[in-house]
Amino acid sequence: MGFRKDFMWGASTADYQIEGAFNEDGKGLGIWDVLSREKGRIARGETGDKACDHYHRYEEDVSIMKELGLSHYRFSISWPRVLPEGIGKVNEKGLLFYSRLVDKLLDANIQPVVTLYHWNMPYALYRQGGWKNEQSSDWFAYYTRTVVEALGDRVRFYLTFNEPQIFTFLGYDIGLHAPFEQNNDHELLLISKNVLLAHGKALRIIREASKGRAMISFSSTGDCFIPHENTEESILKARNDSLKLRDHFLMSHTWFTDPILFGRFPDGAAERFGDSLFSFSEEEWALVSQPIDFFAYNVYQSSTVFRDGREINEACEYPGCPKTSAGLCVTPEVLYWSAKFWSDRYKKPLLITENGCALNDWICLDGAVHDTQRIDFLSRYLGQLKKAADEGIDIWGYTCWSLLDSFEWASGYDPRHGLVHVDFRTQKRTIKDSGFWYRSLIRQNGDHLLS
Ligand code: BGC
Repeated sequence: MGFRKDFMWGASTADYQIEGAFNEDGKGLGIWDVLSREKGRIARGETGDKACDHYHRYEEDVSIMKELGLSHYRFSISWPRVLPEGIGKVNEKGLLFYSRLVDKLLDANIQPVVTLYHWNMPYALYRQGGWKNEQSSDWFAYYTRTVVEALGDRVRFYLTFNEPQIFTFLGYDIGLHAPFEQNNDHELLLISKNVLLAHGKALRIIREASKGRAMISFSSTGDCFIPHENTEESILKARNDSLKLRDHFLMSHTWFTDPILFGRFPDGAAERFGDSLFSFSEEEWALVSQPIDFFAYNVYQSSTVFRDGREINEACEYPGCPKTSAGLCVTPEVLYWSAKFWSDRYKKPLLITENGCALNDWICLDGAVHDTQRIDFLSRYLGQLKKAADEGIDIWGYTCWSLLDSFEWASGYDPRHGLVHVDFRTQKRTIKDSGFWYRSLIRQNGDHLLS
């Protein structure tokens, strides 16, 4: 059976990770622009000031995408580039950049998939409380309208948020990502409430303001456990563990997916928070849980557990087991099981918006980048995705993380995830062996993958 004939073969990026030009053409500052400069926040004191200089090199980057044969490109819009103060006056030059990018993509026969929020809150709004401010969902709605009114005649696919789990948890709970805060449950619940409302308001606006029928979702992430054995009992346990509300509740898929897809809190939320759990009116629940068109998620490895004071990955942990240079275990079956669990639960077609392999690639003596391990990683993971497709699960596509090596948040420019190598001294792009491999895979629609 294999992948659908119109399978979306893409690659992903995010604005702060690649654009650079952080203070050009009227762009405002985002929380990453300002706060990543604080001492000790980012490895080696690196910032995204220049990143891949994609703002100036987007034409070259689209040509590379064309050479790779991508059918879709997932990128995010920089909110402070479009609205320097977060709301109010539009920076026309910023908006024009995205409009040109979209035109270039369409000229190259590549469909844009737009993420509205990949963690880059305008600093001006952050100073007013950011996601803790009751007005934050209206700010986001205003921003969404600005973007969709400009691009909605040409863009069909939208993701409201990238990984609400990660930016709320890393940014506001344990303080590893901007804005590097640690908050109590009361504030974390408030942030969750505002993000859910923001998703709902944005979705309504995208529907209203798009020219054609928009396809809308958000990119979720969180647990996916792999069954230890192929028994019903073991599968059920892995599934239930994947749906459970974690101790770090923000990191659970279901903390965000159950409200959005079912219009209710996940199991365990009422018991855990009692009276402090926020409430939504009937209209607010209806807003938050408007139908999305597909279920999008990001997945890199199967879930880890804490045992004896250590984080271990039961699906893979042994001395010397395969790990990416980001320290994640190579657990390809997670693509099969996540596809099964999420399509069973939410009954939506799936789009894998991120999956990929971090390595410390360099240019070899012959001028090429021989990233054999990434090819092996992707072959294994995509083989498992194909197995899910073979079993009839409706999978719309896969947008590999990432098109380019880029600024990897708190880790700076190390490790590298790209299908395309970037020399950050010269900005020279070199398609890696994995990029050429991905091109031939796309040409064959993944038919030769071993599942
Ligand atoms: C994020 C990306 C990040 C990737 C690899 C995802 O959580 O959405 O921005 O680069 O993981 O770490």
